[in-house]
Amino acid sequence: MTLDANRPDLVIGLVGTGAMGRGIAQIAAASGCAVVLVDSRDGAAAEARDYVVKMLSRLAEKGKLTAEALSAATQGLRVGSGMADLAACHVVVEAIVENLEVKRDLMRELEAIVSDDCIIASNTSSLSVTAIAAACRRPDRVAGFHFFNPVPLMKVVEVIDGVMTETWVAEALTVLARRMGHNPVKAQDTPGFIVNHAGRGYGTEALKLVGEGVADIATVDRILKGAAGFRMGPFELLDLTALDVSHPVMESIYDQYYQEPRYRPSPITRNRLAAGLLGRKTGRGFYVYEGDKAVAPPPPPVPDSRPDSVWVAPGDGWAAVATLAARLGATVEAGERPSKGALCVVAPLGEDCTSAAIRLGLDPRRTVAVDPLFGLDSHRTVMTNPLTGPAMRDAAHGLFVSDGIPASVVRDSPGFVAQRVVAAIVNIGCDIAQQAIATPGDIDKAVTLGLGYPAGPLAWGDKVGPDRIVAVLQAMLALTGDPRYRVSPWLRRRAALGVSLLTGE
Ligand code: NAI
Repeated sequence: MTLDANRPDLVIGLVGTGAMGRGIAQIAAASGCAVVLVDSRDGAAAEARDYVVKMLSRLAEKGKLTAEALSAATQGLRVGSGMADLAACHVVVEAIVENLEVKRDLMRELEAIVSDDCIIASNTSSLSVTAIAAACRRPDRVAGFHFFNPVPLMKVVEVIDGVMTETWVAEALTVLARRMGHNPVKAQDTPGFIVNHAGRGYGTEALKLVGEGVADIATVDRILKGAAGFRMGPFELLDLTALDVSHPVMESIYDQYYQEPRYRPSPITRNRLAAGLLGRKTGRGFYVYEGDKAVAPPPPPVPDSRPDSVWVAPGDGWAAVATLAARLGATVEAGERPSKGALCVVAPLGEDCTSAAIRLGLDPRRTVAVDPLFGLDSHRTVMTNPLTGPAMRDAAHGLFVSDGIPASVVRDSPGFVAQRVVAAIVNIGCDIAQQAIATPGDIDKAVTLGLGYPAGPLAWGDKVGPDRIVAVLQAMLALTGDPRYRVSPWLRRRAALGVSLLTGE
């Protein structure tokens, strides 16, 4: 069987015309497909049609849609009076309530109406496509077609094969996605598919950092935006999605992977959810909101003090940190060992400040760590160990902000904040590749378009250096003993062979 999804007379049915259904209807209509809207709530499909026409008219006003395309799209958008009106569809996409039994009932109902070669696609974000399809007489024509909210702006869609799905189905949906101006990525039917799986590292590792007392939420957000380049901090993001959505998703993916430690949720969000601190929509989450604006506590005051002299420990990050310290006007010692009063600066990869000070035989009271990998030019991270004296800490802080670039001071952590969070994201991305859930290229495309990260996990790992990511993870594993940080075989092999995580070259 086959379907030419580019045929001019393609008819698409949309069942469930809420936030997602109407978004999919909009891009389908704009691409010249005829669209039939059906919803179980009286009047909902008509409301959705009005909404879509309004959105398309706006696009036409802005010159983003021609008058002819607007007119064709408007004429092609029909409100179905019931399921029977879907009989002529080539593709039906369901975007009804996220409930397996309700979706399975719908599948049975649809199969009694549409032809045998009609594709039935589900926009489910968390259910198994295979389990939905299993209700069908013909599960081979059922696939996942997972869009993101808001559909017209989020230009990526996951095309998901169930266990029984035939290849022509995903091929046709891939063509249809492109016709609608979206970037299709192909995923196996696994919990979270690509985007919601790859997104596990960011929030959970940030919660782990806060849970370990490394830094407070505002500091973690500031570092990850300023040093690693994320558009939103993890806690800002949790506040935006709201804990009543994101905490259950964290639990669900963790459980669906049979308690995989990499995805372990945090008691912090469970407690805050119980307290009703959902996020922006309730006016209080990790931050307090005035309207849409978060009231973030101001960064801690910057001390005036400076070190008498600075000694930077040899190692991977030595040159970058020593050059910076000299540029900031510090007297950088050249000796093999620090002088008696010098501030000792280590620049470790993955190692915490305590371990680095002990390994190098430094006085921990005078030792701080500076992250050499992330943010030296944009937002520096200074890390103390439990014995670092307050005067040395303040002198380091004062020095590393003296050119106006911010710096945050955090407590001891293997991999500071940014190294650690980026390593967790790269490791999970590598494991998605290892499990062949998607190709490396599609993983990176899905993550950049679906999550807006500054880079896909595999390209990011390549940029930092796979061996450095391995070093960070191994140090975390050694210090904590937590299998959450075990290195994915994909990453370990490519780091050992010295080849790219993304291309294998
Ligand atoms: P929504 O609540 O805005 O819309 C659902 C619509 O389906 C409502 O209009 C409702 O009346 C209708 N409906 C419910 N049961 C029905 C049935 N048996 N037959 C016909 N119509 C029915 O929900 P939303 O957010 O649009 O989500 C829809 C689907 O898309 C869910 O599976 C959800 O998991 C998935 N999804 C949602 C995303 C989001 O950010 N909202 C993102 C990606 C996927």
